[in-house]
Amino acid sequence: MDQALDITITVNGVPVARRIPARQHLIDFLREDLGLTGSHVGCEHGVCGACTVRVDGIIVRGCLTLAVQADGRRVDTIEGLSDSGELAPLQEAFHRRNAAQCGYCTPGMLIAAQDLVANHPRTTREQIREHLSGNYCRCTGYQAIVDAIEEVLDAQRKNHKTP
Ligand code: FES
Ligand code: FES
Repeated sequence: MDQALDITITVNGVPVARRIPARQHLIDFLREDLGLTGSHVGCEHGVCGACTVRVDGIIVRGCLTLAVQADGRRVDTIEGLSDSGELAPLQEAFHRRNAAQCGYCTPGMLIAAQDLVANHPRTTREQIREHLSGNYCRCTGYQAIVDAIEEVLDAQRKNHKTP
C-alpha cells in the first residue's frame, strides 16, 4: 500500500493541509482532491503541457511533479491566475485572435505564455514558438496563439517604452 504523508500547500493563496498518498501527482491532487479542474491532463508523460501550473513562480508539469514535492510551497493554477487578473491581457488577446478552439490546451498555454510576458519581455516571434514547443495544441495551428502573445508583448513594450 502507498505510504500517506501530511502536506501543506498554499494553493492560489489559500493554505491547504491534507494527508495524501506519497506517489500522488500534483495535477491529480489539484483536480481530484481540490476540485481545481481548470488544469488539464493530456499525455501524463510530460510532453503535452496541458497540466502546466506554477510552483513558487516556476512553471512545472503537474503530471511529472509529486504533490509532496510542493509541500510548503506556493502553487498557482489557472483558476487563481485568472481570478487575480494576472492573465487578463493574454486572455483578452487569445479571445480577440481566436487563439482557442476546443480549449483543452488553453490553460497550460496561458500559464506558459505568462511566463514569457513576465520574465522575457523582449522575446521574439521565434522565441515564442520555442517557448511554447512543450505545449501542444491540436486545433489552432499555433499561428493565432503566437499572434496573441506577440500582441501582449508589443503592448507591454510600448507601455514600458522598452525597445
Ligand atoms: S499531461 Fe502533463 S505534460 Fe501532458
Ligand atoms: S485549442 Fe484545442 S488543443 Fe488547443
